[in-house]
Amino acid sequence: MRILVVGSGGREHALAWKIAASPLCDALYAAPGNAGIAQEATCIDIGIEDIGGLVSWARDNRIDFVVPGPEASVVAGLVDAMEAAGITCFGPSAAAARLEASKTFTKEVADAAGVPTAAWERFEDAAAARAYIARVGAPIVVKADGLAAGKGVTVAMTQQEAIAAIDDALEARIFGKEGASVVIEEFLVGEEASFHVLCDGKHVLPLATAQDHKRVGDGDTGPNTGGMGCYSPAPVVTPEVEAAVMERIIRPTVARMAQLGCPFKGVLYAGLMITDEGPKLIEYNVRFGDPEAQVMMARLMSDLVPALLATRDGTLGHVDLRWWPKAAVSVVMATRGYPGSYPRDTEIGGIEAAGALDDVIVFHAGTKRDGARLLSSGGRVLGVTALGDTIAVAQAQAYRAVDAIAWPDGFCRRDIGWRALGR
Ligand code: AMP
Ligand code: GLY
Repeated sequence: MRILVVGSGGREHALAWKIAASPLCDALYAAPGNAGIAQEATCIDIGIEDIGGLVSWARDNRIDFVVPGPEASVVAGLVDAMEAAGITCFGPSAAAARLEASKTFTKEVADAAGVPTAAWERFEDAAAARAYIARVGAPIVVKADGLAAGKGVTVAMTQQEAIAAIDDALEARIFGKEGASVVIEEFLVGEEASFHVLCDGKHVLPLATAQDHKRVGDGDTGPNTGGMGCYSPAPVVTPEVEAAVMERIIRPTVARMAQLGCPFKGVLYAGLMITDEGPKLIEYNVRFGDPEAQVMMARLMSDLVPALLATRDGTLGHVDLRWWPKAAVSVVMATRGYPGSYPRDTEIGGIEAAGALDDVIVFHAGTKRDGARLLSSGGRVLGVTALGDTIAVAQAQAYRAVDAIAWPDGFCRRDIGWRALGR
């Protein structure tokens, strides 16, 4: 098969690395890709939201199967457009992708399906939202309704912070139309975990569990980021918790989506809070997590391509995935300054030495080549990933690889996996 991966981050490098290893893959392309993805695929300079450009390129180049990485592509209708053009494509329709694109839609689905989630209210009017905050108090969570590049959520520990978030979204319109309404919800207490399933509209296949570290600083301090590191499995998701997540959260959601006439096909990623009352849904994403994909692909023993094809074809009931009985840890190396402003085009050395260590894969998230030099081209730049018999062993090996990388403008957290190690 001739396969096209859409995206340019660490998640897409992990997917491309795994797809390239499939005996079903004869030729692999990526749009737009990055310097790491270029080791696995031929990179094509088309943007992830250029739906027309991607469809015509795929048609002209006889692509058999398209695998989009980012939510922006599927929310913009990439899957619908590819399928309408007769090109087989993994992932949800734009209608089903509302599970990520609209917090209100997700909350309505959750309520209708009886899925446990934080109590919530939706507001378009700033004065009404402020009055609500004054009544219920803090801590409380304020979320822009739409996609806001991961920046639309404020976990407010005080009423002042919550009111500032409302003013930013509803008065100053800092998220544009994506923040023209907000969801204000109950603050949940517990440990977070990422739970991914493949879903073909009807059948559901759980993937390995993972836990992300969203804060920029050691000990989970400082501002939120896209994710600074990850490990798998997540010991907080015990077999009992997993069974509860499947029965109370995933299956009712999948049934409700089918009932609404927009069955969910693709990878459904539930952000969970494991509370004293059991698992609760924080949010859905309609794509693989980043950096969760990096640890999941590192641990996946089976061929990924047949599972992705079965997800699209509705035959997931016949698929079984095997995982290496090892833990994986992925440490994100980011450019100094991230998640604020940061320099570009800084030089990175030592990647080959790091990648040559046993059980290490260095996924690229934001890199490009300039002749023989490797340069940074984003905030999150590398996902240094290692396997080990335990999380402690995988963590030690990942940091050995980090220390082999010579990048004065980069930094990373030194404690990825700490919650699992503390158990
Ligand atoms: P999101 O962008 O929706 O993933 O939210 C970012 C982060 O905010 C989550 O990973 C949680 O750490 C936190 N968060 C979101 N909703 C809640 C909630 N209802 N209670 C507590 N923390 C939350
Ligand atoms: N790791 C968080 C995300 O992909 O949304």
